[in-house]
Amino acid sequence: MEKQKDKTMKKLIAGNWKMNTTREEAGRLFSDLAAASESLDFDTIDMLVCPPFTWLMMGYDYLSDVPVMVGAQDCSAEESGAYTGAISAEMIRDTRAEWVIVGHSERRHGYAHDSNQDVLEKATEAWDKGLKTIVCVGETLEERENGQAIDVVKTQIDESMPKGASPDHFVIAYEPVWAIGTGQVASIDDIKDMHEAILDHVSETHGSGEWRVLYGGSVKPNNASDILSLDSVGGVLVGGASLKAQSFVDIASAI
Ligand code: PGA
Repeated sequence: MEKQKDKTMKKLIAGNWKMNTTREEAGRLFSDLAAASESLDFDTIDMLVCPPFTWLMMGYDYLSDVPVMVGAQDCSAEESGAYTGAISAEMIRDTRAEWVIVGHSERRHGYAHDSNQDVLEKATEAWDKGLKTIVCVGETLEERENGQAIDVVKTQIDESMPKGASPDHFVIAYEPVWAIGTGQVASIDDIKDMHEAILDHVSETHGSGEWRVLYGGSVKPNNASDILSLDSVGGVLVGGASLKAQSFVDIASAI
């Protein structure tokens, strides 16, 4: 019997604004996005924007009439208490944001030194409070050059995805560290190999289902179509190019 290709899985187009935008810029970006997204086919895609914490509620208000979801870029692993400067999953949920990103490489390798265990605890807390979660994984250039990329990513999945996590609540984002914000994109063959390895692995460790594995790292309107045409790519996580409504929407239209 001919194997039917599953057309029901929507690709997730997620934007990570990082630590960018003033209140005025955020308002403009949300309203431009609300207008530009009218051209999109939401039967085939899910759209998500992750602004800084301070603009989460504003995002909900600006985007309430369009099917663009709002998420945060990180959360605390703790429920509440004496953690100065931290933001809990419950607070994020209270803004009516639906998603959170955890384990972004800028937090794993940069200023925050988030370990797999930290990411696991954040993901567990987010799940407990009803947030859908993007768990980011990805190898450094040195790890790729040493032929360790797939093993590193599998270990990150094993150690930072909660047991029992399902594709209804969890998405994995594969973001090679060396491709983030550098303009250097992984080759289509490397993306395909890694995404297939991730899908096989997570199906073994967390059960088969419609797992979405996003690619992230210098995704732009001119490379999105090739990346999104891969069956193993369940969407994209976009940094720089999500700071302009039109380029973000152009990426979403590239499917
Ligand atoms: P970039 O960022 O698209 O600017 O490379 C991607 C990310 O950090 O998620």
